[in-house]
Amino acid sequence: TILILDFGSQYSHLITRRCREHNVYAELMPCTTKIQDINFKPKGIILSGSPHSVYDDVSPHVDLAFFDLGVPILGICYGLQEIAWNLGGEVTKCDHREYGPADITINKFWNGSVDALFEGLGDKMRVWMSHGDQLSTPPPNFHVVGHTSTAPYAAVAHNTKPLYGIQFHPEVTHSPMGKAVIGNFILKICGCRQSWTMEEFIGKEIARIREICGPKGRVIGAVSGGVDSTVAAKLMHEAIGDRFHAIMVDNGVLRLNEAQQVNEMLNKDLGVNLTVVDASALFLSRLDGIEDPEQKRKIIGNTFINVFEEEAAKIEFAAEEEEKKGADPKGRVEWLLQGTLYPDVIESISFKGPSATIKTHHNVGGLLKDMKLKLIEPLRELFKDEVRALGRLLSIPAPLVGRHPFPGPGLAIRILGPVNREQVKILQLADNIYIEEIRKAGLYDQIAQAFAVLLPVKAVGVMGDQRTYEQVIALRAVQSEDFMTADWFAFPPDVLRRISSRITNEVAGINRVTYDISSKPPATVEWL
Ligand code: XMP
Repeated sequence: TILILDFGSQYSHLITRRCREHNVYAELMPCTTKIQDINFKPKGIILSGSPHSVYDDVSPHVDLAFFDLGVPILGICYGLQEIAWNLGGEVTKCDHREYGPADITINKFWNGSVDALFEGLGDKMRVWMSHGDQLSTPPPNFHVVGHTSTAPYAAVAHNTKPLYGIQFHPEVTHSPMGKAVIGNFILKICGCRQSWTMEEFIGKEIARIREICGPKGRVIGAVSGGVDSTVAAKLMHEAIGDRFHAIMVDNGVLRLNEAQQVNEMLNKDLGVNLTVVDASALFLSRLDGIEDPEQKRKIIGNTFINVFEEEAAKIEFAAEEEEKKGADPKGRVEWLLQGTLYPDVIESISFKGPSATIKTHHNVGGLLKDMKLKLIEPLRELFKDEVRALGRLLSIPAPLVGRHPFPGPGLAIRILGPVNREQVKILQLADNIYIEEIRKAGLYDQIAQAFAVLLPVKAVGVMGDQRTYEQVIALRAVQSEDFMTADWFAFPPDVLRRISSRITNEVAGINRVTYDISSKPPATVEWL
């Protein structure tokens, strides 16, 4: 394991990703972590960047006991400055904050070789800089292993100990050789084995689930038809079979035939013990007349908890009855499955400065709290693409594994006006045609998210010799790394033409189709 101590840089999670891409397990912890807080011995430590300056009164500092472990340490940006600050170097403010690309020259030793950190990477490389302070005097016993035209100490190393510091950010994709630099550190310098693979993960995780759940006791969990909950459910099924109960709530604002398709796949194909609850009437009655997006979200969230709890209570009641009969070896409901992923974990543990509060994720309602369920989160160590890889290994069908994300409040936030069955039907049909044509054109995997939006305005059209007065569909398709920023997807015109013509011909109530060409920011991905 590589331990990454997070000093609050916006790039910290990317360091974890880059290590994992080398099949080395890496875990991010806040920089305030003390050595006694960790229950493993890392093979190496990486200190992240930070928005702070090492000289600020409130700036965070590392527990120096980590330096005594004798394992290799790599400081990135602030991490470098933190090493220097602790070991007697000097850090000063730059005249101008340096933000952007720089070319680093790798220093050669007398025999022509370079430091192990840069081995095999050439003499020069393009790297990404983002800093206001820089090293002005290296600490005693350090030597320079790389420099740029403005940073004479852009990369330094200790003469005898495995201590390294680099001013640039190897973790961002703007540093094309950055991943290789991290690879050199964790593989050559730390000597990590490349054993973090999903094949290994499955076996270990199934064993872990069996151990923590014990021989008795049931687990319940919600599935949505998305990748995360499907993978989590299948993993639970592999581990404890029918002691796991999946519940899918049909909230009436799912995609076309979604509940039915999830049922087919999870229940019939994957063998997961699944109950689909059709609560669409309840959801739609509570949504009736509501236009405000936040209110729509709240209603859907709360109703979901009500319905899920009611279903959980039924399972618990049945378990109780069986227990009374003394016939049931499966036990009572003890666990609640959550599909939490590592980015959520990072979000809640990453260092946000001295006054930060921890975000809570788990909105379990009253009844579930009363049932005193313990949480089980089999995906909490994984990034999204690792979940997809796991899904493929668990034989989950490829179209589902590669599926675009779908928001919890569903089509309710894509119907801009009031939500009712007719409006849902129109949007489902239009959205289905849109996605079908994107798949046919072979473009689905190039797009991060695509969906149709139903506008609450009517426009004039003509059909035969009749004048029509019908609604407008807006199509959205974006490319994005992390949905924090996004750009609209440039469709070939003939694909858009086909989609538009099919929607206006096949969906009653629509006579006009528009394409959304807004990026995020200033727009968002969803319209509400
Ligand atoms: P925005 O619209 O904020 O969307 O640019 C970014 C990503 O978040 C998804 N999204 C949601 N997901 N509940 C969800 O589960 C929501 O209320 C919600 N709102 C937006 C959106 O689909 C996109 O992937």
